[in-house]
Amino acid sequence: MDMDKLVSLCKRRGFLFQSSEIYGGLNGFWDYGPLGVELKRNVKEAWWRDMVSGHDELTVSGGAPSTFDMVGLDCTIIMHPQVWKCSGHFDLFCDFMVDCTESKKRYRHDQVRGRWVTYREQKVFVTTMAEADKEQGELEAKALKFFNIRAKDADKLAWDGDSVSLATINDTKQVLAPDAKTLGTLTDPREFNLMFKTIVGALGTAEDAAFLRPETAQGIFVNFKNVVDSSRVAVPFGIAQIGKSFRNEITPRNFTFRSREFEQMEIEFFCKPASSPQWYKYWRDRRYQWYLDLGLPRERLQLRDHHADELSHYSCGTADIEYAFPFLPAGEFGELEGVAHRGDFDLRSHSEGKLTKDAEGKLIVELGPDGKPKHRGSGKDLSYFDAEAKERYVPHVIEPSAGADRATLAFLCEAYTEDKVPDENGNPRERTLLKLNPRIAPIKAAVFPLVKKDGMPEAAQKIYRALKKQFNVFYDEGGAVGRRYARQDEVGTPYCITVDGETLQNGSVTIRDRDSLKQWRIKADDAVAEVTKLLNPAGS
Ligand code: GAP
Repeated sequence: MDMDKLVSLCKRRGFLFQSSEIYGGLNGFWDYGPLGVELKRNVKEAWWRDMVSGHDELTVSGGAPSTFDMVGLDCTIIMHPQVWKCSGHFDLFCDFMVDCTESKKRYRHDQVRGRWVTYREQKVFVTTMAEADKEQGELEAKALKFFNIRAKDADKLAWDGDSVSLATINDTKQVLAPDAKTLGTLTDPREFNLMFKTIVGALGTAEDAAFLRPETAQGIFVNFKNVVDSSRVAVPFGIAQIGKSFRNEITPRNFTFRSREFEQMEIEFFCKPASSPQWYKYWRDRRYQWYLDLGLPRERLQLRDHHADELSHYSCGTADIEYAFPFLPAGEFGELEGVAHRGDFDLRSHSEGKLTKDAEGKLIVELGPDGKPKHRGSGKDLSYFDAEAKERYVPHVIEPSAGADRATLAFLCEAYTEDKVPDENGNPRERTLLKLNPRIAPIKAAVFPLVKKDGMPEAAQKIYRALKKQFNVFYDEGGAVGRRYARQDEVGTPYCITVDGETLQNGSVTIRDRDSLKQWRIKADDAVAEVTKLLNPAGS
């Protein structure tokens, strides 16, 4: 699939716009248009319904406890700065970057890619930030320019090996930076903290510095005790949150995939340490299945366990759910969601200090020589008393952490389809459609009068109003009916209902299926029931 075509459709049909576009845009920030906002809301609502509000008590095979609760939370974006000290983000949430002394540009070290190329015994590592499908073209153009040779002599360039990340190159003296004309202009890699800083209050002193949250998870951990004390939840249970997160990404790119402001859908699932391995497996499998159910095919979706050297500072096991995004090189996958076994890292870190057990096995705070808690936590005990097992422990946490924007982008990429259909005269016509799962489609049905006369608009508007009470539907009476179908196909509307001459005679209308193009007649009065049935095939 050509990514440029999807990006252009998204802009043309009002799914996504560059933020502040009239001022030239702001890199890494995106606005959702009228259809995009519906699509993303549907993705978030499907997640909330499936994981939280519609969650029923489940039986988990393999020895894990059989029932659990799921509750929600909505925390602030700016939190006490100490939260980020304890979570590790203040000290550890960094990427490596390199600066180019010639172009004055900054790049994420591992995202600069290049290839070795030799011409007349000079060997150079030519680099680019171009996306996979444009990479070799850019590298060749840069090499031709650097060696000052004409395009017709491109075969004189001797390329060595496949393209690799700059992070694999030790000596950068022979590196031609992505936007440079001379060699060796990149600095050594340096750490760069990804949190956005801000000031709280009018004084603006250094002590007033705060951060925009880089993940929603920490709001859940610091409210763990509040939720336990105020709700009738018992371990095992999960707390879910959907909300904005912010990361000052060095090189945001690939449309909304890596943005600086994005939305996360996170669950922190609290369980007994001994049963955490089963829960970890349970959540990996359940979250993988969720994407399959909403339309991502198994051959483009993978569940990949992290290698030990990839694990975050808190994690004792993580698996990524990854999708083969079309902007990645063939065979590569991009992260949609991480499912992490966080152990008791966060609750311990935010509690009174480091908790240890005394001789009798009771949890106590580790004190320093001055008699004060040795660590920098909140001063609160965040352990949990398990009334059933009659024991106190710090629960372990399984965290399925998904990106709402990445999921939306994956569903859009997968849905984008080009095919040929017969036009009104039976001749093949090219069409572009979004084969979105009806559950997340921005518009569920469109209603058309065949012509703008003979009472057809009035009959169509009646059906439209009846449907509109329950679904997001669209009324269109402009232009040839074929063009109206085409416009709905392009934005993924699964059903179109057309009022025609027969409607006025016998009260029936046609209903058309976006993917199969099948058309059948139903009673106009049954339109709501028919669309309801089509949207809920299992009666759910
Ligand atoms: N609490 C754990 C956590 O935040 P993460 O892997 O850093 O883990 C979770 O982020 C998810 O958030 C990712 O799988 C991705 O879907 C989304 N995400 C992370 N950074 C993003 C970015 N810069 N732009 C868009 N989505 C992002």
